[in-house]
Amino acid sequence: MEAQSTLQVFVNGDFVPAQQAFLHISDLAIQRGYGVFDFFKADKHKPLFLNDYLERFYNSASLMYLPVPYTKDELRQILQKLISLNNLEESGVKMILTGGYSENGFDPAAPNLIIQQQPLVLPSKEKVKKGISIITHEYLRDLPIVKSINYTTGIRLLHHMREQNAEEVLYFNSGIITEFPRCNFFIVTEDNTLVTPAHNILKGITRKNVMALAAKKYKVVERDITLQEVKQAKETFLTSTTKRILPIVKIDGEVIGTGKPGPITLELLQDLMALEQEVLAETVR
Ligand SMILES: Cc1ncc(COP(=O)(O)O)c(C=O)c1O
Repeated sequence: MEAQSTLQVFVNGDFVPAQQAFLHISDLAIQRGYGVFDFFKADKHKPLFLNDYLERFYNSASLMYLPVPYTKDELRQILQKLISLNNLEESGVKMILTGGYSENGFDPAAPNLIIQQQPLVLPSKEKVKKGISIITHEYLRDLPIVKSINYTTGIRLLHHMREQNAEEVLYFNSGIITEFPRCNFFIVTEDNTLVTPAHNILKGITRKNVMALAAKKYKVVERDITLQEVKQAKETFLTSTTKRILPIVKIDGEVIGTGKPGPITLELLQDLMALEQEVLAETVR
């Protein structure tokens, strides 16, 4: 928090220091947890895969009937200005669009737009080398295709997760795997096919990039995956903007594959990092 308090934040048209960035208590985000957001990485002051994140942000907003008060081009300029002002080498940028200052605590009003930039914390090399343990939990998000600000179940489960020495919780619905609170899921089957859930998920930008990279070398399929199938997979991993690709070696106490991060998982992580560098080199600041 200390370090972040000196950073500039965009709030409804103004760039202000984080200590002076406030919304009123009547906002529907506070009253009812109503709002959407998106989050992308910026490296050497350049946003990565920004088109995809903007597309998803405007789509989430539209599905929640929240008009974004700027065009995509205007928003791009605001983002670039914030990134220049804060001058962080590697960062995460979060755009939050709330339900607005509601008169009666239920009807949406003109949305408030906040944009925050934060230093980026990536998984350590040791974590990638070792892989992580996860647990599963039956739950289906409301409107999975929307990147909502409501993470109630994921946050409530943190306590249970830590008691089990797990690092993430994988949701399933009627025996079918969906996603993590903040990440997507992949398995590698015996015949080296990459499979990722097709339904009831947020379509991650990292998921999309990993599917495209994997398709150059392996068969890639989007389909239902059962809980049983997961436990027989050769390799499993998760994907997200901040975590890139993180190998999973234990699920509900059962060892997956060899119990070590798999070669295809690690190869795809290298491919993803190389793609990021390629895109950065092509992006004009
Ligand atoms: C529910 C959910 N699934 C998946 C993801 C991963 O998406 P991305 O790769 O775009 O970060 C996120 C990101 O926060 C998420 O909230």
